[in-house]
Amino acid sequence: MRTRIGIIGAGPAGLFLAHLLHRAGIESVIVETRSRAAVESTIRAGMLEDWVVRLLRAMGLADRLDREAHFHDGVSLQVGAVRQHLDLAGLTGGKQVTIYAQHEVLKDLIAARLADGGEIRFEAHVTALDGIEGDSPAIHFTEAGDARRLDCDFIVAADGFHGPGRDAIPDAARREYQKVYPFGWLGILCHAPRSWPELVYARHEDGFALLTTRSDAIQRLYIQCEPADPIEAWPDARIWDALHRRLATPGWSLTEGAIFQKGIIPLRSFVCETMRHGRLFLAGDAAHIVPPTGAKGLNLAVADVRVLARAFERFYAYDDAAGFDTYAATALGRIWKGERFSWWMTTMLHRDPSETDFEHRIHAADLAYVMGSTAAQAALAENYLGLPFTD
Ligand code: PHB
Repeated sequence: MRTRIGIIGAGPAGLFLAHLLHRAGIESVIVETRSRAAVESTIRAGMLEDWVVRLLRAMGLADRLDREAHFHDGVSLQVGAVRQHLDLAGLTGGKQVTIYAQHEVLKDLIAARLADGGEIRFEAHVTALDGIEGDSPAIHFTEAGDARRLDCDFIVAADGFHGPGRDAIPDAARREYQKVYPFGWLGILCHAPRSWPELVYARHEDGFALLTTRSDAIQRLYIQCEPADPIEAWPDARIWDALHRRLATPGWSLTEGAIFQKGIIPLRSFVCETMRHGRLFLAGDAAHIVPPTGAKGLNLAVADVRVLARAFERFYAYDDAAGFDTYAATALGRIWKGERFSWWMTTMLHRDPSETDFEHRIHAADLAYVMGSTAAQAALAENYLGLPFTD
């Protein structure tokens, strides 16, 4: 098999890239280890930056999003029992918070890609990448037990944090930066009506809590927990008890519902420099991870492939490879700002058992400052809804 761009991974980075390339007349093939059903049902976060929504609309891929997503003018921050609305739309010239679950985005992108005649090979397990330092790299994979080879001009590893892509860059050519937080998030989905009209990010002495939504009848909630907690340590009654305590405000209470999905994720910040080696490029979680508190994961992945798609267009249209040389630096400029914002939101809103009393007070002051300052709120709003592009 042969294609121009061999993409590993049918997540946000891989699928957005395939669509952008298709619109530039550049063919690609996606190789994905999971089944289509697994990709379309994996529960992730759900906040799309304003420009991502506009990009989906410009690509003609936002019909269902426009019908089913939830658009809010802001978010609420809460400290103790004090809840305050931040007017993010007013602070950003009208940008909205769009809540549309990541797997819903993926369903739309997969359906449209297949309708365009695009090739996505599900349940295809990568065994090796070769030739990335030469002119004709190849992805080796197995499909239903058969060994296959996809020859390409370039390989894009959009294969997530645990995928094989990043490891194909020699150790000496990459440097990794990491922070592992001493807490995790327990996330639930439940059948309940909405309790509050927008997201609530709450700092509480017991730990962080986040109220978000999926539909009028399905709500998504998260609470800070021990990262190593087994899910059995959190029977439903304990989850509701923690949520009620952390989110309570005078005269308001959270509406409970039947929990039908729950899981615990660790929180990590991670960046791999570089994002290119020869004819291999990294995009999305393969190169960087953020804790979900800033809602940046998918958005940073799409920002990477926006830059990368342009580099490929420039190469195929004008035989100009300059975009490949600047890809990592351009992408990393935005990534580090996303890392900073995600780290800042996380430290400001969580209870860190390992922090000093001084740091604890500073993080509380950080939040008090945001709640009392329009200037600080404008900075939060700009980062939350998507920094402007400088390229
Ligand atoms: C979500 O809706 O799942 C969500 C929203 C915002 C976050 C994290 C998760 O910061």
